[in-house]
Amino acid sequence: MEKSEILALIDSLSVEEKIGQLVQLTGDFFADGTETTVTGPIKKLGLHQGYNIYHTGSILNITNAEEIIKIQDKYLKNSTHKIPLLFMADIIYGFRTIFPIPLAQTCSWNFDLIEEAASVSAKECYEEGVHVTFAPMVDIVRDPRWGRVMESPGEDPLIAELYAQRVIQGIQGKDSEQKIPADKIAGCVKHFAAYGAPVAGREYNAVDMSEHTLREVYLPSYLAAVKAKVKLVMTAFNTLNGIPSTGNEWLNKKILREEFGFAGVLISDYAAVEELITHGYANGAKEAAHLALKATVDIDMKTSVFANELAGVVQSDEQMMTLLNEAVYRIVSLKNELGLFEDPYRGLKNKSAESSSILSVKHKETALRLSEESIVLLKNDGILPLEKDKKVAIIGPYHDETSTLGMWAIKGDVKDTITLKEGINKISEADHHQFCRGSHLLEKGSTQSLGKYEEQIPNEPISQDELIEEAVKVAENVDIVILALGESIYQSGEGGSRTDLTLPKPQQELFESIRALNKSLITIIYSGRPLILTDVEKQSNALIQAWFPGTMGGEALARILYGVTNPSGKLSMSFPRSMGQIPVYYSELNTGRPNLAENGFYRFASRYIDESNQPLYPFGYGISYTTFRYKNISLNKKQMTHHDELIVTVEVENVGNYDGDEIVQLYLKDRFGSTARPIKILKDFKKVFIKKGETKSISFTIVEEQLKIYRNDMSYASELGQFDVFIGSNSEDLPLKETFELVGE
Ligand code: BGC
Repeated sequence: MEKSEILALIDSLSVEEKIGQLVQLTGDFFADGTETTVTGPIKKLGLHQGYNIYHTGSILNITNAEEIIKIQDKYLKNSTHKIPLLFMADIIYGFRTIFPIPLAQTCSWNFDLIEEAASVSAKECYEEGVHVTFAPMVDIVRDPRWGRVMESPGEDPLIAELYAQRVIQGIQGKDSEQKIPADKIAGCVKHFAAYGAPVAGREYNAVDMSEHTLREVYLPSYLAAVKAKVKLVMTAFNTLNGIPSTGNEWLNKKILREEFGFAGVLISDYAAVEELITHGYANGAKEAAHLALKATVDIDMKTSVFANELAGVVQSDEQMMTLLNEAVYRIVSLKNELGLFEDPYRGLKNKSAESSSILSVKHKETALRLSEESIVLLKNDGILPLEKDKKVAIIGPYHDETSTLGMWAIKGDVKDTITLKEGINKISEADHHQFCRGSHLLEKGSTQSLGKYEEQIPNEPISQDELIEEAVKVAENVDIVILALGESIYQSGEGGSRTDLTLPKPQQELFESIRALNKSLITIIYSGRPLILTDVEKQSNALIQAWFPGTMGGEALARILYGVTNPSGKLSMSFPRSMGQIPVYYSELNTGRPNLAENGFYRFASRYIDESNQPLYPFGYGISYTTFRYKNISLNKKQMTHHDELIVTVEVENVGNYDGDEIVQLYLKDRFGSTARPIKILKDFKKVFIKKGETKSISFTIVEEQLKIYRNDMSYASELGQFDVFIGSNSEDLPLKETFELVGE
């Protein structure tokens, strides 16, 4: 449809029909028997008696072709204007082929591969009839107590920007300016804004931060998504400096729409419009509707507020009526861009089991590669890679666990998971291995803290003591023990904030019992967040961070254990040493009294008296089976102007015994600024494959854009002066340093 046709269509709608477009319901509203009568779900939501469900604009979390066809059919038969329904769902990191959780994906620093994974998800969604996915989440997170860190790209703005941009390209296609092509769907970036910074890491809690930090650290990833032409944005649940995001006109209208130029659909998070009342911001439903519409929210997800109140809000208020029309225009345009007017059953025609790409060999290969590149080797005293003839015991609740997909894999099926045991058996001879559970996953009696997910935790039929006893017996007869440990997938994700990030107690007991045998010990950690691994690392010969590695995780781990794949992942988030350090992140400010090594234990420095300032593992950290030596940094000039390009070149030599990938990282420090500058900030990186014995020359180009900062008046510009450039293998190990100056023309 042309714009004029869309406008004419909107013109022909009644106010009620327009409002309906802004309402999002779940599929149960269209179950048989609902027709026009008020049913259970309608009552539960509190929709007014006269609400006609055939005015509704979109449906939440129906993800299977058959149901989508049924609901769309019924809807189109019953609705007057036959504007097709939009089907939206949370397909966050895979539809049926499940990839590692996003926090793991960004540890690959391989954004081509991340984009490929996103296009696999989009294709599987397309084939099943889903039109919009609520991904990517690009909230920066520096506090691992917050459970949704597993869905985030981590702590760094550059990594989050690249993640935003490339996932959107994978989901929507590169040229998604207007129409979304076949095999692609619409993306929805979330949660606008700064949802990842709740006070004390507690879910849904208030966010309080300076506008400066908001702009410099938290907003760039959303902006990158808008630049990548994301079709939808989702508001956040939280307040930002006292105003709930969903009713925040400054945030959504002024920043998102006017400043960033976002012209797409703004959807509230689940029930967030109604929660404006609970926040104590809207005095009742009508005011909530008014505030949300005024903040240019287009879709009310799963409450009756817009449905019940908007008519009253727009009645005899021209400005609000205009806002309503604009919202309808944006929603109908999205339907048009998806081609729904030509084909309301988009992706579902000529569907057959044979033509389906869902869980295809190719998709699983992409998942395997991304799992391999997301896994981070944190410690290795030389025990890895394993020699094939060594006798190994693989012990722990994750030794053969299928539930390793993470909490947001709503369509993932654990039956598809390749477990660690299966992966190892595929690679190495079965008679060299023994497997046993060794421990309960969680402490008995602690599972009620998981709320509605408690029932997903299987009963432990064997007592903890018996499990440990068996594990010790098994371990006594082998050369090497691999402990596969971690948190439950339900301990992270939404509503999964925690105050103690050490391993669950029973697993600590197992760890202690095995450690006491003095065997060589390799520990693998499954988790949705950085855990506190300070004791575990001390007593392990090798430590591997597996995250929740997705469908192919067990195979990826086995390939790494046996050296088929040389690990290359590097952390996208710092691992704290202790709870009290949280939040700990690399790009901190210098302070007036930095804790300098040369001052020894100087009390009046910015430090703890009982803990180091350094994390256990810093951002950007991860080791390989080989060793890389950094040398010979050079700049093509020492001064640059605003229009120049400055080239930094270094050499990286593979001095170890394996071929491998290295992620070469470039950090900058602006020596002086009109606002205090971080001690370093990642500005570029390259992932390069270097054969053993080979030296590669690697060049980075620095341009003025990378030198810009937010100033006190919130203008964004570079400032003349000196910059240090550091290059190395992680945010702490930066052996190469040079200095250059930005000068006037
Ligand atoms: C989450 C969103 C999600 C939505 C729809 C909310 O609880 O915060 O990220 O997209 O539910 O399922």
